[in-house]
Amino acid sequence: MSLIRLTDLLFTGRIAAFRSSRGLSMRRKLVAGNWKMCGSLAQNESLLKAVVAGVAQLPEMDCVVCVPFPYLAQTQQLLSNTAVKWGAQDVHRMDKGAYTGEVAASMLCDFGCSHVIVGHSERRSYFAESSHQVAEKFAAAQKSGLIPILCMGESLEHRETESTETVIAEQLDAVINLVGVQALSKAVVAYEPVWAIGTGKTASPEQAQAVHAFIRQRVAQHDRQVAEGLCILYGGSVKGANAAELFAMPDIDGGLIGGASLVAEDFLAICKAGVIRNPA
Ligand code: PGA
Repeated sequence: MSLIRLTDLLFTGRIAAFRSSRGLSMRRKLVAGNWKMCGSLAQNESLLKAVVAGVAQLPEMDCVVCVPFPYLAQTQQLLSNTAVKWGAQDVHRMDKGAYTGEVAASMLCDFGCSHVIVGHSERRSYFAESSHQVAEKFAAAQKSGLIPILCMGESLEHRETESTETVIAEQLDAVINLVGVQALSKAVVAYEPVWAIGTGKTASPEQAQAVHAFIRQRVAQHDRQVAEGLCILYGGSVKGANAAELFAMPDIDGGLIGGASLVAEDFLAICKAGVIRNPA
C-alpha cells in the first residue's frame, strides 16, 4: 500500500471516529437477508415468524429480507405490520413490456416491497450484468419508490492485483453518472468482496473498513452530506461470531447476509450485533 493510501485511510478513519464521537454520524444499522434461490412455503413460514419475534426485541436496528419472487405474497402476508421489511433480489430496468420472465419494479411495489437488491455479484457474473445495466435497474427501482441495495465488490484476482479500488470505483461511478449522486440518499450500498461470498472467508474488519471508507470518500467528492448519510453494508460470510467486530468499524453500517439469513437463530444473532446500546 502506498504511503498516500495509508495516510488517506488513517485520515478517513479519524474523521469517521471524530464524527461518531461528536454524535454527528448517527446512521442506524441495517441487516438485510438475501435468501438467494432458497426457501419453500413451509420453511419460509417458520423462518419469518421467528425473525419477526426476534426483531421485535431490537427496535434500535432495521431489518429487511430479500426473498425469491414467488414468495413475495407469502412474505407480505407474514411481515405486514411488523418491524421487518421485505424486498426482492433483482428487478428489470423497464416499466413493462415484452420481456418474458422479467419482473418490473411496480410489480414489487404491488407486493409491498421496500427494497430491492441490484447488481449482486452472482448476477454480474452468471448473468453478465454490466455496471451500466445495474445502474439502469437502480434507476427503475427508485422511479417506483423502492430503495435499491446496490452491490459491488472485487474478485480475488482483482484484490491480488491491487485493483480493488478501480473495480469499486467503476461500479459506483456507473450509478452516479446515470442518476446523479443525490440518488444515493435514497439507496443502500453493499460492499461484497466476491471471494468472501459463500466461501466462509470473511474480509477482516480492517479490509472491509478500508473499502467502505473508500466508497464513502468517493461519494463525498460529489456531496459530503450524501456520503455521511449513506448506509454501506458489508456482505460475505457474515455470521453471528464475526458480525459485531465488522459492525464496530466506523464506516460499516450493517450487513447483507446470504447463508446465515436462512437460519433464524443465526440471522437474529447478526441482527443483535446491529444494536449498539448506549452504556447505562
Ligand atoms: P453469504 O452471502 O453471506 O452466504 O456469504 C452474502 C451475499 O451473497 O449477499
